[in-house]
Amino acid sequence: MQKHALIKIDDKEHTFPVMTGTEGEKAIDARNLRKETGYIFYDQGYGNTGSCESSITYLDGDNGVLRHRGYTIEELAEHSDFPETAYLVIYGELPNAAQRKAFGQLLRENAAIETQMQRIFEGFPKDAPPMAMLSSIVGSLAAHYPQLATNNFEKDLQQFDLAAAMAISKIRTIGAMIYRHNKGLPFVHPKDLPFCNNFLHMMFSEPYQEYAALPEVAKALNLILLMHADHEQNCSTSTMRMVGSSGANLFTSLAAAINALSGPLHGGANTAVMQMLQSIHDENDDGTRFIEAAKGGSKSSRLMGFGHAVYRNFDPRAKIIGQACDVVLKKLGKSDPLLDIAKNLEQAALKDDYFISRKLYPNVDFYSGIIMRALGIPTNMFTVMFAIGRSPGWIANWREVASNPKGRIYRPRQIYVGPVKRAYVPLANRK
Ligand code: SDX
Repeated sequence: MQKHALIKIDDKEHTFPVMTGTEGEKAIDARNLRKETGYIFYDQGYGNTGSCESSITYLDGDNGVLRHRGYTIEELAEHSDFPETAYLVIYGELPNAAQRKAFGQLLRENAAIETQMQRIFEGFPKDAPPMAMLSSIVGSLAAHYPQLATNNFEKDLQQFDLAAAMAISKIRTIGAMIYRHNKGLPFVHPKDLPFCNNFLHMMFSEPYQEYAALPEVAKALNLILLMHADHEQNCSTSTMRMVGSSGANLFTSLAAAINALSGPLHGGANTAVMQMLQSIHDENDDGTRFIEAAKGGSKSSRLMGFGHAVYRNFDPRAKIIGQACDVVLKKLGKSDPLLDIAKNLEQAALKDDYFISRKLYPNVDFYSGIIMRALGIPTNMFTVMFAIGRSPGWIANWREVASNPKGRIYRPRQIYVGPVKRAYVPLANRK
């Protein structure tokens, strides 16, 4: 097995160690490249660059493999639920009965948002975008709980268990409050309920009528959140690590990750998928317009929910969620014309050479909205749901950064292409 990489620059040979991960991934250790050669690697978007060693999630994009701490997403989808998978992603092991009970209790005890913190909503317009509210309010956790957010890794790690459970639980509650705010409805306080049941209660209960989630509904929501728990060094998770690497606390780093997720090429895609499917439905179209526009190559007309920076095969989450759509709709006694449109669109794209040649397949966002809509969750809340699901992954990655004694602040380099040195020109002499 090759232990070193040889790079020849200006007739001089340089060797760099080769790193091998537990799944056989290979990397050239370039930490001394600039010092040894004066050169840097250029890799726009870091698609060929590893920023860290991590033990949380393994992806094999060519074979559509996704594992959390060694457990396949297929097994977790079949046997686990969101809180258990959140525990696994954060702590590295499936919880035993006592650990699961204690974690569930921490989530319950930290579900409420203090009245003073609730006042933040008074400053938001009724129709404020949910993700803009989510990042602001989550960031304010650092203001409301400064004792858990000292920006001192040693101190913050001593209180990590409480801060982590608080973050997961309160992001869920804040999500429900955002929905109520957008509807002009009073907030609903959390109850002593399982995680997803509590979320649905806080979303849909009314003063005159309690909302008690059917088991199928709670199970479907657990699946959706579990599917989003973590996904290696995606844009928002890399942001979490980048901000955390400066020593920033968990809550502040979460606000940054939420902002990164909000972009339409990342977590905003699930909303864009449903808007695309709805347009096809309303125009009684067969999707050809969107497929042809997507082949034009502009980022703004891409086929949303298709393609992935890592998967060059099916996103395993898309397969699982796609299969769950039929089951959930049937159990709820519902049908959704957008599901048939999505399936037809998928079939049409997968036969089109443009998508085949670029290995563009459905990703996690292509079908997730169908299930969320069936649960009564509005489209403008879909990215908030993604954030609730991804919170354990972000937190686990922050913990790896904070607990790495050899960690360094993230500071990528660049290739400067601006003006070379020139003298100052007094205003009077400028054209
Ligand atoms: C998520 O990283 C993660 O793990 C993210 C995520 C997670 O769990 O965190 O999986 C969640 O963000 C899923 C992706 C959600 N986004 C979308 O569905 C938006 C649509 N997809 C694309 O914008 C795109 O596929 C990306 C952003 C997801 C990936 O972009 P890449 O890897 O940078 O792809 P690229 O821009 O290099 O594209 C390669 C080619 C280009 O064509 P050519 O220049 O070679 O002619 O494929 C084309 C692109 O134009 N292309 C698409 C396309 N995606 C890529 N063309 C039409 N429709 C698309 N969806």
